[in-house]
Amino acid sequence: MIDLRERVQDEVGKVVIGQRRVVDAVLVALGVGGHVLLEGVPGVAKTLLAAAVSRALGLDFKRVQFTPDMLPSDVTGTMALRDGRLAFRPGPIFANAVLADEVNRTPPKTQSALLEAMQERTITVDGKGHELPSPFIVIATQNPIEYEGTYPLPEAQLDRFLLKIDVGYPSEAEEKALLVLDRVDVTDPGHDAIEPAATPAEITAWRGEIRATRVAEEVVGYVAAIVRATRTLPAVELGASPRAGVHLLAAARATAYLAGRDFVTPDDVAGRINDVMRHRILLRPEAELDRYTPEDAIAAAMAIVPVPR
Ligand SMILES: Nc1ncnc2c1ncn2[C@@H]1O[C@H](COP(=O)(O)OP(=O)(O)OP(=O)(O)O)[C@@H](O)[C@H]1O
Ligand SMILES: [Mg+2]
Repeated sequence: MIDLRERVQDEVGKVVIGQRRVVDAVLVALGVGGHVLLEGVPGVAKTLLAAAVSRALGLDFKRVQFTPDMLPSDVTGTMALRDGRLAFRPGPIFANAVLADEVNRTPPKTQSALLEAMQERTITVDGKGHELPSPFIVIATQNPIEYEGTYPLPEAQLDRFLLKIDVGYPSEAEEKALLVLDRVDVTDPGHDAIEPAATPAEITAWRGEIRATRVAEEVVGYVAAIVRATRTLPAVELGASPRAGVHLLAAARATAYLAGRDFVTPDDVAGRINDVMRHRILLRPEAELDRYTPEDAIAAAMAIVPVPR
């Protein structure tokens, strides 16, 4: 719904200048039950965006700062004594919107606890399952992987993120505008100004409408052909998985819906393909040395496949 999108964008716009693509990405992911990975250098408002969008969506929000010494139970929760009895004490993952800040700073064991929760929507502690709230979205952030002291997420884990968004620097006009934004102080951008722009019922209704967005057979064929083409490129070691295809079509549906349409066009697919695929395509080392990027591979795959009319 264009209206819901505008309301959320307006609320987030009170504290964040620009970065509207990131806000749209969270809406797309929430609409289809997916999760988002935000990558960017420090100080480009990744954390601020995640907190602001969650608040604008009226979601119960928790932040987990990942560190090298963190244990899986610091995320999921643990059995603890309460009034002389052992009871489950839920970890910070039990929220509608979880900001997993700097996921690549924690070792693989803790990363996989998070990723399992994302996939299964339940947490198992001492053999007992605990269901996570609904809706449930993880917004993870990471600094670009060349940084020291990081544990890059393996491809299999990355494949679970619906979208990966590169959060870049603002434009010159945005840079000036963010400097003169009214802030409480340098650490408090004034989140309190953000009003919830959506109710849980609206979010549920909105998800139902996304699911009902029509996809013509030609568009299904288009998605399948692109996914398959990524697996045939000489520069590619590991192409897109079937899950990547499912994610691409879902993201295209939500994108069409946010644009106010009840059917998916090939442009909806093309407009999301980099966000869905860039983190799932593994290049051969030679290609990487040649500065060939996953985006180049995606473009090459799309060039092979005729666009349906
Ligand atoms: N586009 C923007 N609009 C408004 N303020 C911004 C913007 N970009 C950065 N800022 C300012 O910079 C601060 C830093 O943002 P934030 O902490 O969210 O960055 P980050 O990307 O999460 O960094 P790190 O990787 O270090 O965690 C914000 O609180 C805000 O004051
Ligand atoms: Mg941050």
